[in-house]
Amino acid sequence: MTKIKIGIIGSGGMARHHLARFSAMETADLVAIASRNEQTGSHLATEHEAVFISEWRCLIEREDIDGVVICTHNDSHGEIVLAALQADKHVFVEYPLASDIGAGEVVLRLAEERGRVLRVSHPEVVSNTHKALKEKIGELGDLLLTSFVRLTPGRGSRPEILFNLPVSGTPAHFFIYHNLSCHL
Ligand SMILES: NC(=O)c1ccc[n+]([C@@H]2O[C@H](COP(=O)([O-])OP(=O)(O)OC[C@H]3O[C@@H](n4cnc5c(N)ncnc54)[C@H](OP(=O)(O)O)[C@@H]3O)[C@@H](O)[C@H]2O)c1
Repeated sequence: MTKIKIGIIGSGGMARHHLARFSAMETADLVAIASRNEQTGSHLATEHEAVFISEWRCLIEREDIDGVVICTHNDSHGEIVLAALQADKHVFVEYPLASDIGAGEVVLRLAEERGRVLRVSHPEVVSNTHKALKEKIGELGDLLLTSFVRLTPGRGSRPEILFNLPVSGTPAHFFIYHNLSCHL
């Protein structure tokens, strides 16, 4: 069986979460973990019998990696996604894809040009909340626009990250739903 060879960047909560999933997949092989945090990075790498790399650029340059999973803080996603696609890797990135729309459009185009998979977590469109809202909105008639925003809590254990706007985005609130619908 051909397996997809994975490299993970970051060694925090989401990296650990994805590692647990990939470890359970017969079709995936974890090759390396890159982390600027040597303590958590090398610990995770040892736990999963993967190579530890301190610099993420060295991970995406490896020829024995097909796909990169990006689990760093928000402000670094755009740069890493771009570099990974330029190195012809498939990419799974934690949200957001990038810090501004222009940078997001560049990487979407690049993925298409190079025939790479670019997937942004997380699959909100399949959540029960999303399905229920879609059904309810459908009952309102023909709409010009609907916009739905859910602000979720970040990780409380590191407030210096959670409340740092460039790194974490909008300060987290606990499940605030904002729903805007405009009729034709
Ligand atoms: N899909 C979901 O449901 C979900 C849930 C929570 C979070 N997220 C997203 O997942 C991402 C990671 O969140 P997390 O909770 O895992 O954070 P975390 O526990 O703080 O871990 C982030 C990891 O990335 C490293 N890192 C951060 N910026 C970096 C950079 N510029 N270069 C190299 N390494 C860097 C950190 O190193 P240090 O230890 O040195 O800081 C740490 O190892 C965020 O984008 C967040 O929005 C998604």
